Amino acid sequence: MMTEASDGSVFVTRRVPEPGLERLRAAGARVVVGQEDPERGLERAAMLDGIRGADVLLSLLTEPVDAPVLDANPRLRGVANYAVGYNNVDVAAATERGIPVSNTPGVLTETTADLTWALLLAAARRIPEAHAYMSAGRYRIWGPSLLLGADVGPGADGRRRVLGILGFGRIGRAVARRARGFDMEVLAHDPYARDAVEAADGVAWAERHELIERSDFLTLHALLTDETRHMIGEAELRAMKPTAYLVNVARGSLVDEGALVRALTGGWIAGAALDVYEEEPAMAPGLAACPNAVLVPHVGSATVETRACMATMAADNALAHLRGERAPNCVNPEVYRAPAWRERRA
Ligand code: DGY
Repeated sequence: MMTEASDGSVFVTRRVPEPGLERLRAAGARVVVGQEDPERGLERAAMLDGIRGADVLLSLLTEPVDAPVLDANPRLRGVANYAVGYNNVDVAAATERGIPVSNTPGVLTETTADLTWALLLAAARRIPEAHAYMSAGRYRIWGPSLLLGADVGPGADGRRRVLGILGFGRIGRAVARRARGFDMEVLAHDPYARDAVEAADGVAWAERHELIERSDFLTLHALLTDETRHMIGEAELRAMKPTAYLVNVARGSLVDEGALVRALTGGWIAGAALDVYEEEPAMAPGLAACPNAVLVPHVGSATVETRACMATMAADNALAHLRGERAPNCVNPEVYRAPAWRERRA
């Protein structure tokens, strides 16, 4: 934790939990919050105005930080994104301009892995449908075929279910650890982490197509990049088992949402559980009406403790940007060798 005085101001696009703001103020930074209403985003014009008067931007994933935003203030010393994912920030444009960008990795790993499992189980055992059934007062009598779902553990047939993990970073690994308790066969694929897959206890490497074809539960934990956009499209959904479930807590655009609606309504797969969407807060037409889709509003890291930790972590990154020091969680560290970074500090 940093405590030295930090001259300068931090523009926070939308209010983050108080511990983060307190950390900034305690270090002497002037804090301006752009949007106080938790139900509303920040207008583009207000974003540009805010950034013009600030030394550092603390951004949320709801606001694009693109080249025009970065150009709005030639004195901008850094961008501290309040999320582990940073696809809302044009990192290449920031690097070109000598602006370090940071994120909040690690603190939300376990919380997000918990939600992955909550969604997986909810889809397999039809928990939202069962809850709606009870809330509507429809429960009249127990019956052998009432709300039948799918086994996650070996179940009565003794077959170990296959969990396929695409993306084996921190969150993918935490999801795999939890699978041990369910006695599943765990397959993983990540072209950038083959060593981690092979070193993980109880996890076997599988090629992407094999993993997609064999999984009973397929869960996504990749960063959104040009390479991973629509990594699950029509071809992949058609290749899945008709009894399989798809879980996505990473970024909506990993999945072609239109194709997913066709897969859910056409019986190509049994169900899906989603925390993230291609065009949040909108959903593809027809998705909300699918009874075999469990849908939650991007709450993977939403616990009191985790969101507070993300705020203090983003604040520490912002303070480092403010002081011209290396940010603890910089995603473009090559920027510190660039003349553009030195020029910005001069
Ligand atoms: C992230 O951090 O990237 C999540 O989507 C929000 O916590």
